[in-house]
Amino acid sequence: MSQPSIPVLNISIRPGFPDFLDLPWEYPLAEWRFHSELRVEVPRGVSRHIVEFINYAGGLYALKELPVGVAEREYDLLREMNENRLPAVRPVGHIQVRNGDRQSSVLITQFLDYSQPYRSIIVNNTQPPFIENLLDAMAGLLVQLHLAGVYWGDCSLSNTLFRRDAGTLQAYLVDAETAEIHIEMPPTLRHDDLNIMEENVNGDLADLAASRLLPADFPIFTTGNSIRQRYQRLWDEITHEEVIHPRERYKIQERIRALNKLGFSVGELEIRTEENGDVLKMRAVVTDRNFHRDQLLGLTGLETEEKQAEKMMNEIRELRASLSMEKNRSIALSVAAYKWLEEVFLPAIRSLQPYIDRNQSDPAELYCAILEHKWYLSEKAQGDVGHHAAIMDYLNRFLDTGSRTGELPEPQVYDAQNDDR
Ligand SMILES: Nc1ncnc2c1ncn2[C@@H]1O[C@H](COP(=O)(O)OP(=O)(O)OP(=O)(O)O)[C@@H](O)[C@H]1O
Ligand SMILES: [Mg+2]
Repeated sequence: MSQPSIPVLNISIRPGFPDFLDLPWEYPLAEWRFHSELRVEVPRGVSRHIVEFINYAGGLYALKELPVGVAEREYDLLREMNENRLPAVRPVGHIQVRNGDRQSSVLITQFLDYSQPYRSIIVNNTQPPFIENLLDAMAGLLVQLHLAGVYWGDCSLSNTLFRRDAGTLQAYLVDAETAEIHIEMPPTLRHDDLNIMEENVNGDLADLAASRLLPADFPIFTTGNSIRQRYQRLWDEITHEEVIHPRERYKIQERIRALNKLGFSVGELEIRTEENGDVLKMRAVVTDRNFHRDQLLGLTGLETEEKQAEKMMNEIRELRASLSMEKNRSIALSVAAYKWLEEVFLPAIRSLQPYIDRNQSDPAELYCAILEHKWYLSEKAQGDVGHHAAIMDYLNRFLDTGSRTGELPEPQVYDAQNDDR
C-alpha cells in the first residue's frame, strides 16, 4: 500500500457543489475503501477504471479515476450533452491529483437517482415485456444522441443506466470517454456506433449467460440486432421527409402531434414547395425528447421522466375537462394543473411518504403505478374508484411485504380477472 504524502490538487467544480477537499486524496481511489467512511456500495456496471461512490455533504457522487486529460475531456463532453438536454449523467467537476510521481484526474458526476445498472434490471426481469422496454430504451437513447450529433463510440449495457419511467424504462449514458460531438454527424458514424452497440450488447449478455444469470433460452446473440431494428424504425419515424398536397395542410399539425406523442419537441419545420406548388415536402427538426417533461415542469415545477410526465399531463387535461363541464366555461390549463398538484398529486405522495422514505423510491414512478392500479380497480368496479381507494388497496396488496428489499418498487400489475377478494 502506498505511503501517504500531501498531494497537490487542482479542483474544477461547478457552482453549487461542494469542494470535495475532505477526501483521502493522498491515496489512489483503489485504496479509499480503507480510508474513507464516506464511501458507499451501490449496484454498478462493469468498468476498467476505479469508480467509487461517495456520500459527500448530503449528496451522492460517482468518482472515476482516469489519466490526466481524460477526465477533463469526459467532463466537457458530459457538460455539452447536459446543455443539449440529453439523457446522460450530470458532471459535477474534475480534480487533478499530483502526489510525487503519481498523477491522475478524477471525474465527478452526480449519482443518477433511482437508476439501476443492466445487471440488476435484467437478472430480475427476463419477462418479454420488460426486456422489450429495455431494448426500446437503448434504441431511444442512441437516437437521441445521434439526433444531437453525439457519436458514442462505446455504447453498451455496462455504459448505460436505466430509470423506470411509468412502467417502461429510460436509458441514460453513463460513460462518455469515447464520445465525440459533431455539428452534423455523418451516417457512417451512426452505422459505426450501431455496430459497436451490437457487439458490446451481445458481449454483455454473453457475460451474464456465462455466470448463469440468464434463462437458457434468452436470445443473447440477436438482442443487439433487435435494438438496431428498433433504432432504425424510430430514426426513420423522426427524420423522414413527408410529402403532402397543399390541401392536406392539416397533416403538418398531425406530424407535430405524432412527434410530441413520442416525447420529441419540434424546434422547426422545414417545408419546401415542389413541382409548381403541387406538393409540399416537410421535415421536422426535433430539439430534444422532453416534450411532456417541459410542460409538466412549467405548470407544476415537478421534474419527472418523459412518460411519467405524459401520464400526469393526461390527468391534468382530464381534470380541466371535468372542471370546464362543471363550471360551464373554459378553464385555463394552469388552473387545472395547480388544482391537480395541490389536491391530487401532493396528497397522494403524502400518503405514500413512509414507503418512499423507507425504500428511497421514486415518488413519480410510484404515483404512476398507483394510476395504473386505479385504472384496473375502476374497470373492475365499472366506475372511478378515486385515488385514495387505489392508494390504500395498492399499499395493502403490494407494499407492506415488498418494502424491505431496498429495491426500486416493481411495477405491479393487478390482475382483475384472477382477483378473488
Ligand atoms: N453518475 C453515476 N451514477 C450512477 N452510477 C454510476 C455513475 N457513474 C458511474 N456509475 C456506475 O459505475 C459504472 C462504471 O462507470 P464507467 O462506465 O464510467 O467506468 P469505465 O471504467 O469508464 O468503464 P469502461 O470499462 O467502459 O471504460 C457504470 O456502469 C455505472 O454502473
Ligand atoms: Mg464504462
